[in-house]
Amino acid sequence: MDAGAVSALELEGVSYQYPGEAFDIVDNLSLRVEKGSFHCIVGASGCGKSTIFRLINGLLPLKAGAIRIGGVPAGTGKGACGYMPQKDLLFPWRTVWENVALPLEIQGGCSKRERRERAQAALEDAGLPGCGDKMPQELSGGMRQRAAFARTMLTGSDLLLLDEPFSALDFLTRISMQEWLLSQWQRHQKTILFITHDVEEALFLSSSVLAVESTPIRALREIPVPAAFPRDRSCLKDPELVELKERLIAHLRKQVTP
Ligand SMILES: Nc1ncnc2c1ncn2[C@@H]1O[C@H](COP(=O)(O)OP(=O)(O)O)[C@@H](O)[C@H]1O
Ligand SMILES: [Mg+2]
Repeated sequence: MDAGAVSALELEGVSYQYPGEAFDIVDNLSLRVEKGSFHCIVGASGCGKSTIFRLINGLLPLKAGAIRIGGVPAGTGKGACGYMPQKDLLFPWRTVWENVALPLEIQGGCSKRERRERAQAALEDAGLPGCGDKMPQELSGGMRQRAAFARTMLTGSDLLLLDEPFSALDFLTRISMQEWLLSQWQRHQKTILFITHDVEEALFLSSSVLAVESTPIRALREIPVPAAFPRDRSCLKDPELVELKERLIAHLRKQVTP
């Protein structure tokens, strides 16, 4: 990268302490994410991964430090990100397109007809043509996640934070969704941060994995994945990736006290 280029995301000396807790769960964390990259964040359950996302999207206030999205302080002007939590959180009383159009409704300035058209186009793009008038309950788990992703895309943000979006899906749906997500990422040129505790998922998706080193979180260790894009699952059989997978599992197990 040339020295003057703006990063998709920068954390500088970020700290956070939950009220009532005696320590900073995120402690002086710095991180720089380049535009167009795909990083999975892996770490033991409860180590503070989701907390990092809540700090980036402004759901939690920083105790110290600064966050910039596309060079702009987070939460101001264009300093916004698209956020997709583990549960799809589609409102059951709205049609699928009305759910997908929510970011446009919140941002304002768009007629209902335009919102509907853009939502239908985003759904089609996500592989759900003709689903806009259905209710969320009529969709399968994988389809609901695609709809939630289409909604995240309509935030218009270049930075997407996806928090364990596939963890509730069965194995075969999950691996199809991983391939689908990589194709969406390549087509739309977004920057994606993706939390998972599934090491194989992290290796398949990431340009490099960001591993939580410790609790409190003081650093994320960047581990490049030696496989080119576009990828298919056969790369997971590569001896280099198999070895990396075992190293990551050993690293995560060190953090877990059974
Ligand atoms: N609202 C809260 N108040 C106090 N502690 C919390 C709160 N939310 C989460 N925590 C604690 O912070 C830690 C990190 O939570 P979280 O970021 O959700 O972990 P992860 O996503 O890595 O599983 C957990 O140990 C959890 O108990
Ligand atoms: Mg979490």
